[in-house]
Amino acid sequence: MTQIPNDLRAAIDAATAAIEPRLIALRRDIHAHPELAFEEVRTAGVVAAELSRLGIEHRAGIGRTGVVGTIRGARPGPILAIRADMDALPIQEQTGLAYASTIDGKMHACGHDIHTTTLLGVGAVLQQLSGQLAGTVRLIFQPAEEAIGGAREMIAEGVMEGVDMALSLHNRPEIAVGRYGIVHGPATAATDEFDIVLHGKSGHGARPYAAIDPIVAAAQLIGQLQTIVSRDVRALDACVVTVGAIHAGQARNVIPDRCELNGTVRSRQEAARDAAESGIKRICEGIAAGLRVRCDVSYRRGMPALMNDEAMLQRTVAAIRAQLGDVADEFEPSLGGEDFALMAAMVPAFRLLVGSSQPGRTDKVHNAHYQPDERCIGYGVRALARTAADILA
Ligand code: NI
Repeated sequence: MTQIPNDLRAAIDAATAAIEPRLIALRRDIHAHPELAFEEVRTAGVVAAELSRLGIEHRAGIGRTGVVGTIRGARPGPILAIRADMDALPIQEQTGLAYASTIDGKMHACGHDIHTTTLLGVGAVLQQLSGQLAGTVRLIFQPAEEAIGGAREMIAEGVMEGVDMALSLHNRPEIAVGRYGIVHGPATAATDEFDIVLHGKSGHGARPYAAIDPIVAAAQLIGQLQTIVSRDVRALDACVVTVGAIHAGQARNVIPDRCELNGTVRSRQEAARDAAESGIKRICEGIAAGLRVRCDVSYRRGMPALMNDEAMLQRTVAAIRAQLGDVADEFEPSLGGEDFALMAAMVPAFRLLVGSSQPGRTDKVHNAHYQPDERCIGYGVRALARTAADILA
């Protein structure tokens, strides 16, 4: 790595401190006006206006409501993408804060308002340092992280073209504000879905021998599906098979002709994913043969696991140490999904966990009471700006 000016640390600290009050004000504004997936029109407008104010060239309307900013260094070099998500959740906020959501049933309960403003801060700091950078920073403000897949749409519109490596962040209330979490290897889960329809033959509840009961078959099936994790998947790998919905029947004395099950599979290793998919299909065949039902199985592979690149992780940890000291700890992986995984499947990538717990609070993300400590914005800016500056030194 090339030399870094001795005063880089002070420069990043000063630039961050100068913009921090504005970032907190922007965050409160975005927090008060949450928008769900692909509805982030107002949020994208706030982002674009702030990029304009900072003199950062940008394009809006990428991946529907996404925004991409570009910071060009003084010298040629790699393209580093830094991605933040912008969407809120369909949750009724119950924090009672002065800047709580003004929109019924919508809330920034996953802290994507924090991510959006953190990336604006990273842009502000790196724009000031651009004379010292060799390469380009691409700031990706992504819509629709929750469930729908804004990353996929932005990638389809070329947002990753030419990108050499990528960074992202997520706030974590399980980590104290001022500290960071790192996860080696697969950091989030592959998220797959399955639907199973058991077709039987309806009849009177008093004469089951004259019918084919899909409810009894479903009961057996759900029990047997539990053996996939315990008997099929390698014990050292993590995997979850959950049936979250089951629909059958109308009346207590009627055997229905069908029963539908909907479920999710979470896994961190491809081998576990393969074992779960083949296990579900095999068990369904067995149930069909044993209990005379017809069994239709549909298994859909969704997001892959987010693979943190070890070299990118080490560069980030070294940058954090240089900027802030020894404040990054190993953290456990999650079996939740994260669509930054699609970008991480294309280039070496790392997602940093930024501690956001507010002293005295224990609420978590996706909770109507969630209140991150807003100082996590400044900490996120310091860590990611330093990492980008070191990578593009
Ligand atoms: Ni999130």
